[in-house]
Amino acid sequence: MTGDTTTVLPLSRLSGILVIGSGAREHAILWGISKDSPSVPIYAAPGNAGIETLATRVSAYTPADIVRWAEDKGCLLVIVGPEDPLAQGIADMLRRQGHVVVGPSYEAARLESSKVFAKRFMNRYHIPTASWQLFKDPKELHNFLVGRKIWPLVLKQSRLAQGKGVVVANDPDEAFGATDQWNEDPHVYDDGIIAEECLVGREVSVHVLTNGEEYVWLPLAQDYKRLNSDPHSPNTGGMGAYAPVDWLSDEERKTIDEEILRPVIEAIAQERMLYYGILYVGLMMTSDGPKVLEFNVRLGDPETEVIIPILDIPWTAWWWALGQGRLLAPRLPDPQSTAVAVVMASEGYPRKPVTGQPLEIDPSPGGLIFHAATVRDQGRLMAQGGRVLTVVGLGSRLETAREQSYRQVEAIRFPQSQHRDDIAREGDQ
Ligand code: AMP
Ligand code: GLY
Repeated sequence: MTGDTTTVLPLSRLSGILVIGSGAREHAILWGISKDSPSVPIYAAPGNAGIETLATRVSAYTPADIVRWAEDKGCLLVIVGPEDPLAQGIADMLRRQGHVVVGPSYEAARLESSKVFAKRFMNRYHIPTASWQLFKDPKELHNFLVGRKIWPLVLKQSRLAQGKGVVVANDPDEAFGATDQWNEDPHVYDDGIIAEECLVGREVSVHVLTNGEEYVWLPLAQDYKRLNSDPHSPNTGGMGAYAPVDWLSDEERKTIDEEILRPVIEAIAQERMLYYGILYVGLMMTSDGPKVLEFNVRLGDPETEVIIPILDIPWTAWWWALGQGRLLAPRLPDPQSTAVAVVMASEGYPRKPVTGQPLEIDPSPGGLIFHAATVRDQGRLMAQGGRVLTVVGLGSRLETAREQSYRQVEAIRFPQSQHRDDIAREGDQ
């Protein structure tokens, strides 16, 4: 199948929906779509044990396999959840086959897949971010760390590392602890390691939908990146989240818009990057104004699990429009709802997650449970390691959403799992 998606296709042309990915983010995306009861088949590649109640699972794991599978299906709406396939150019491959794709081009995905690319991009367009230096040689980095007087210091692998390639080192020992481990892989220097000024402030996850020229805000979310409440515990993909965020003033939102979002989208347009999808800007609100920590070229996880449930959107039409570069503003229901997500992870995550633990979930009314690393083995639900479930509570207030989320967590039988007990806790938000 060939074609182009630059002219707006009517929804009647849609022959199926494919969501790429296997995490709780993709489960939440599919949950939103399934509320529309679309009249076309819904597929997930590869999905997980929770997703299989909503979509037909497709055993295609690489971009080439997925593109091949999609070839005969007619006009699919494809929503790419994770960054890896985007970094490998899957959106371009699928667009060339005529599918309507939510996800940026290979070139634009470099904003996430190469931190060096993102830093240079930000410097070129004067977008506020931490000062940085690139190291392509282990000896040079070693000498730099030995001579460094100002700590803490942030070290980042430039390449994709599933949220685990960043360390905020408080002293040289912590820095060498990380780099000694990273140096075991000689390819880490292909892209290099960045040493970055350590910023201080509160973090916020800003998501916009964009067509590479215009953009529309989604509700602000707060992510909890550390494994537990100890600020020195390891960084993870995210252990919890809540939305919306109510602690930013109108003035701060305006500054984020004028100093960060508008210049970033203008720069994307200027560089002629094809970008139909979601841009997630991780920000630190410093005493010197908002600064960009990172770009992600897709929805956050677990942020998605708190953003989707609080929006009132006809999801199929919304994604279909976005895949063709039309931005339909998201509606917040009235009265507004709040969501709190708690991630349950396997023992040993993030360093060495244990796999194969059984878990039992009793369906509970009101809340939502999105699956990530789950499989069904002879009818039994098993954890496959890493982040396993995202448990979401909803309520008119943060406190009620939080209570509902933790009530559900307590009711799940998943021995030796880990979760944070301070997500959206009063005073911590
Ligand atoms: P990144 O993948 O670049 O977003 O980094 C992951 C996490 O590391 C962020 O969410 C922050 O908590 C922390 N981090 C990254 N860069 C910095 C920085 N320059 N200063 C302080 N903390 C940072
Ligand atoms: N929650 C952080 C991320 O999705 O990258």
